[in-house]
Amino acid sequence: MSDPAQAPLIPAEAWTTRLVTRNFPQFHGGVAIARTLEGYRKTGGYEALKKALSMPRAALVDEVKKSNLRGRGGAGFATGLKWTFLPKDAKEIYLVCNCDESEPGTCKDRELVEYDPHQLIEGFLIASYALGVKRGYIYIRGEMMQEAKTLVRAVEEAYAAGLLGKEQASAEGPYALELVIHRGAGAYICGEETALLNSLEGKRGWPRLKPPFPAVKGLFGKPTIVNNVETLGNLPHIVLKGGEWFARLGIGKSGGTRIVCVSGHVNKPGVYELPMGVTFRHMIYETAGGIPNGRKLRGIIPGGSSMPPLDASEIDVPCEFDALMTDPRIKDVMVKPDMPFDMGGGRRLKTMAGSGGVVVFDESTDVVALCARIMRFYHHESCGQCTPCREGTGWLARVCTRLATGEGKAGDVDLLAEIAHGIAGNTICPLGEAAAWPMLGFLTKFREDFLARERKAA
Ligand SMILES: Cc1cc2nc3c(=O)[nH]c(=O)nc-3n(C[C@H](O)[C@H](O)[C@H](O)COP(=O)(O)O)c2cc1C
Repeated sequence: MSDPAQAPLIPAEAWTTRLVTRNFPQFHGGVAIARTLEGYRKTGGYEALKKALSMPRAALVDEVKKSNLRGRGGAGFATGLKWTFLPKDAKEIYLVCNCDESEPGTCKDRELVEYDPHQLIEGFLIASYALGVKRGYIYIRGEMMQEAKTLVRAVEEAYAAGLLGKEQASAEGPYALELVIHRGAGAYICGEETALLNSLEGKRGWPRLKPPFPAVKGLFGKPTIVNNVETLGNLPHIVLKGGEWFARLGIGKSGGTRIVCVSGHVNKPGVYELPMGVTFRHMIYETAGGIPNGRKLRGIIPGGSSMPPLDASEIDVPCEFDALMTDPRIKDVMVKPDMPFDMGGGRRLKTMAGSGGVVVFDESTDVVALCARIMRFYHHESCGQCTPCREGTGWLARVCTRLATGEGKAGDVDLLAEIAHGIAGNTICPLGEAAAWPMLGFLTKFREDFLARERKAA
C-alpha cells in the first residue's frame, strides 16, 4: 500500500513496515502465532530483551529518546523525556502499564494483549530494566476478560521460563523483575493515570491533583512511570532496529508507526497499523474501503470520543500528533480561526490525534444525536470528585439530548457552549475537557445542525 500523493511525506519503508501488529492473525492465515511463549520466540521474541540487558541503562534510555517514541495512550507525550523526570536518586521506582482502554472508538490495546501478550511483557521488561524498576503492574480493564486470561497465562509462562522473577545477567549486574496483573472494575476514569494509581492502591479511583506528577510521586508515593500498552509494545522494535531507524520511520517529532482503530461508516472497520504520516482521507478511503453505499462524509472523530471532530473538509491532515497543531502541510486545509475555544498549543484544527480511535460519520448521521450520545457517556463516567465535571457533564447530556429528541428550548445552543466553557480548565483531571472540548467542537463545526434543532423546538 502506498499513496504517491504522500510519497514525499512518508518514507517508502513505512508503508510496508508492521511493528506492533506484525503477529496479528490477519497476517498469518487467521492464526494468532504469538499467543504462547514458544510461538513468540519463533518470531524472534525476547531477542530484544537479550540485547537490552547487554546495554547500560543510560544507553537504552538514550535510544528511546532518539526514537521519538510518543505515548500512545492519548496525550502523545515523548516517552524518553517522561522517563527522565524520574528523580536521579530514586531507590524504588514503579512501572505501570495502562491497559484500561475505555475511550469510545479505541480498541487497539485489547488486540495487542490478546494476539501478542509477550510483546507487551518484553517491552515491559525492557522499560523496567532501563529505569531500574524491580516491581511493576499491568492494570487491565475489568471487562477485558478474555484478554486478562491471555495475559495471565503469558505472565505465568514468562515466570516459568525465568524471564520474570529470576535474576538475569545484565550490563548493570544481576537484574530481576516482579510483574503483577491487576484487573480494574470497568471505570473509564481509571484510565487517567493518577486515578489508576489510586485504584491500584485499593482506593477509590479518583484522580489526584498534579503536580506532583507520578514520575515524582506516584504509586505508594514512589516515583512511577505510567505507559500505555502500545507505547511499551514498541520498545522491542526500537531496541532491535535502533532509535534512529524508528524515528526515521515516522514524521516530524513522532517516530514509528501508528495504530488506528477505524469504526463507524466505513466498509472495512478495523485496527490498522499505518505510517505515522498517513492522512485521515487515505485512512478512510483506501485503508478502510470508503463509505458504504457511496454516501458522502460528514466528519470524523480523529482520536477517540474525547477529541473534537473534524468536518469533511479537514481530513487531508496526517494522523500524527503535531499535525493537528502546527504542521505546515495543513496550511491549505480550511481552518476556522474564529472558533470560540482554545485547547492550547496553537492547535489549528482544535483537536488532537488522541488514542487512535477514528470514528467516521457520513451524511446520514444525526450529528446532534451523536454528540448527545457522547455527552451521556462522559456524564456516566464522571467520577463526581469535581463539581464542574459532575454537574456540568450531566447538564451537557441533558440539554444536548433534549435538542436531539426535539424537546430543546430557545437558547440551548448558547447554553451548551456556556456550560462547556464552565467545565474546561476547572477540574482536577482532563475528563472535564474530554466532554467540554468535543461539545464545543461539535457546536462549532456542525453549528447549523444544532441551530436547526433549536429553531424546530421554538
Ligand atoms: C479520562 C482519561 C482517561 C484515560 N484513559 C486512558 C486509557 O484507557 N489508556 C491509556 O493508556 N491512557 C489513558 N489516559 C491517559 C493516561 O492518563 C496517561 O497519559 C497514559 O497512560 C500515559 O501513557 P503514554 O505516555 O504511554 O501514552 C487517559 C486520560 C484521561 C484524562
